[in-house]
Amino acid sequence: MSLQIVEDYPLTRCNTLGFHAVAERFVEIASLDQLQQALQLADQQAWPLLVLGGGSNLILADRLPGLVVRLENRGIELLEEQGGQLLVEVAAGESWHGLVESALQRGWHGLENLALIPGTVGAAPIQNIGAYGVELKDNMVSLTAWDRQQQRLIEFGNDDCGFGYRWSRFKGEDAGRYIIWSVRFRLSRTPVVNLAYRALAEQLAADGIVEPTPQQLFDTIVAIRRSKLPDPAQLGNAGSFFENPIVEQSVYEALKGRFPRLVAFPDKPGHMKLAAGWLIDQAGWKGYRQGAVGVYDRQALVLVNHGGGDRQQLLALAGSIQRSVQQTFGVQLQIEPRLYPQPA
Ligand code: FAD
Ligand code: EPU
Repeated sequence: MSLQIVEDYPLTRCNTLGFHAVAERFVEIASLDQLQQALQLADQQAWPLLVLGGGSNLILADRLPGLVVRLENRGIELLEEQGGQLLVEVAAGESWHGLVESALQRGWHGLENLALIPGTVGAAPIQNIGAYGVELKDNMVSLTAWDRQQQRLIEFGNDDCGFGYRWSRFKGEDAGRYIIWSVRFRLSRTPVVNLAYRALAEQLAADGIVEPTPQQLFDTIVAIRRSKLPDPAQLGNAGSFFENPIVEQSVYEALKGRFPRLVAFPDKPGHMKLAAGWLIDQAGWKGYRQGAVGVYDRQALVLVNHGGGDRQQLLALAGSIQRSVQQTFGVQLQIEPRLYPQPA
């Protein structure tokens, strides 16, 4: 099918911060053939290209030059089942939370802890989404991506993706090169209950649930998330605005000496992950409002758009928070969502 390219396409409802943004050109892609046509055109015209998922990890400028592509391919397919182990292939254009719900309904387990994360399946490997003790990489077998350099589909095994905390090669050295088209997961017929995350275990205990069913696990995660994170339909946001900083044990110990209530969790050997929300909260920013943007009053790691805010205002606030946390704790916070286009 031929491409339906729309000019001056409004993206205000296509990014969860709710920033006013207009794409110079926008196209929806349902087949690989259409994807190739769109990429060929973008290359010929030297248009910058953005692959847009749910827009839940993007800080958009007012005007997006070139071409914005949104993948609309769909499908959740059981490829293999052996001894209770399932191999499931999912199209990039599927909703992530839709997949988690659909898997639960079919009795395919392993994704429950990742419930209610906004966005698409195709974007999930980009920053190796994670929540409540589970990351995408724990269940992902492989993915198929279109390589814009070699102009062909390539399969990446889990180990080829360079996954880390909120990281993959697709966010790092290969940003913009690959377009993820489908993702394969290893799921299980046997319930997989991961209660390693302290706040999750505490909530289940408070609810008097000792051995949660997958449905109870899913419901509890959804309830915790609803209590802490703003619904983008009500209040614009991009989830956590900064990464949780990972510091060496010695840095952690020195900070803990100065701030005995410091919140941190063990990370890779010899390192601790600091709760950035705690640092920002302690520095006095929680609930702070600066014009149309601010810091969420129930979770200081989330910056919000109260309505009519823009990227410049949000980045100004983020900069003030970074300087304040640096001054108070000597810790540098890194912005987690992606800026598009990159500021000059
Ligand atoms: P987009 O924001 O549209 O895109 C993000 C990046 O991925 C862009 O660079 C884009 O070009 C690229 N991209 C998108 N699709 C493709 C593709 N098919 N191929 C190649 N590149 C692609 N994240 C977590 O990890 N854990 C959480 O708990 C979490 N909670 C959140 C809660 C809220 C309320 C919000 C708003 C966000 C949260 N996030 C969380 C962040 C976000 O939901 C995830 O990063 C999500 O995977 C982004 O998906 P998306 O489809 O919206 O991607
Ligand atoms: N805290 C405060 N004040 C705050 C916020 C947090 O003191 O205002 C402290 C509390 O002690 C709390 C601790 O920080 O126990 C951790 O907070 P929370 O459990 O809310 O998790 P987080 O570290 O702020 C991370 C992820 C989230 C993910 C949750 C659950 C990052 C950057 N963020 O948040 O991911 O959902 O854990 O696993 O790693 C996202 O990436 O967008 C995102 C929402």
